[in-house]
Amino acid sequence: MTTKPNVLIYAPWYEPAMRRLDEICTTHHVYLAKDKEAFIKEHGPKCMGIGTMHHFPPYLMDACPNLQIILNFGVGYDGIDIPTATSRGIKVVNTPDVLNDCVADMAMALVLAGRRKVTQADRYIREGNWRKLGNFEYVHHVNHSKVGILGLGRIGLEIANRCAAFKMDISYHQRNERQNVPYKFFQNLEEMAAAADILIAILPGGENTKGLINEKIIKLLGPEGLLVNVARGTVVDNEALARCLQDGSLGAAALDVFPNEPEVPSAFLNIQDNLILTPHIASATHFTRMQMGMTLYDNLKTFLSDGSVLTPVN
Ligand code: NAP
Ligand code: 8YV
Repeated sequence: MTTKPNVLIYAPWYEPAMRRLDEICTTHHVYLAKDKEAFIKEHGPKCMGIGTMHHFPPYLMDACPNLQIILNFGVGYDGIDIPTATSRGIKVVNTPDVLNDCVADMAMALVLAGRRKVTQADRYIREGNWRKLGNFEYVHHVNHSKVGILGLGRIGLEIANRCAAFKMDISYHQRNERQNVPYKFFQNLEEMAAAADILIAILPGGENTKGLINEKIIKLLGPEGLLVNVARGTVVDNEALARCLQDGSLGAAALDVFPNEPEVPSAFLNIQDNLILTPHIASATHFTRMQMGMTLYDNLKTFLSDGSVLTPVN
């Protein structure tokens, strides 16, 4: 009888997909353990793989000296120290492409809700204000507005497709201009923010993009502008954002991501009129989460059979 390889599950993902791993390996679930440190100490040394969703404390690589592969449930891998993994010969895989449509749908949901004040209008009725105060305020239109996409990658392109259907005027900024897209390229983010009604962030997190959307960019977007962040909380200066929302130098924001999840900056919780918050749910549909989980399963299966992977990060 051959024994199955051991894999540590540090942070769990979509259960029906995660459980499929048990067909090809023996999983050890850290997050269920009372004493996580002791659990990792006991099971880490025999594990050739670690699966996680977003969180990956650096000490895990030391605690698992036989580690060969890290399965990252998500396309963004800013939570993992990739150079260290690479230097130790550890392969990292992620879940690109299968989530593009869902994340783009959510970005549009936030654009629509942010511009048309959908959640605020809902609250207006529930608080009895329609009867008490009369009709709801006038808001800004979505169609024919100017949208700037920060990061026209796999997901950014799907967002652009949707914006085109809304007859929006589309531009983008990133380090390299894309060939064969009909959208205006801005080499300079400040210029794009100044020209846009709506700025959508959909680029990787990490040191390279930390605070890219700073106070200046936020103010250039302006009192009638909307910032949508479906990228990572770290790409925005969130303190400046809260100030600008409060003093009206930015019109509105809709945020799916935060720097220290599940914590949300307390300043945001008190801003109701022009801020919409969602708890990092852009890819969180049954279908997409299943696809993401199966991408990890397929990667591990392939790796166990011939040492190659399907969606390599490093
Ligand atoms: P991707 O295909 O790699 O696209 C990323 C784009 O960002 C690229 O076009 C890249 O262009 C641009 N970019 C990278 N660094 C930049 C910088 N310093 N300044 C300006 N632009 C930069 O990635 P993706 O699959 O679309 O995913 C993008 C990110 O979305 C992920 O990394 C993740 O953080 C986030 N995400 C969030 C959710 C959610 O649930 N909210 C879900 C999925 C993904 P250049 O290289 O030319 O700059
Ligand atoms: C996941 C994401 O929700 O793919 C990503 O980068 O941010 C989301 O799809 C995330 O990985 C789970 O923490």
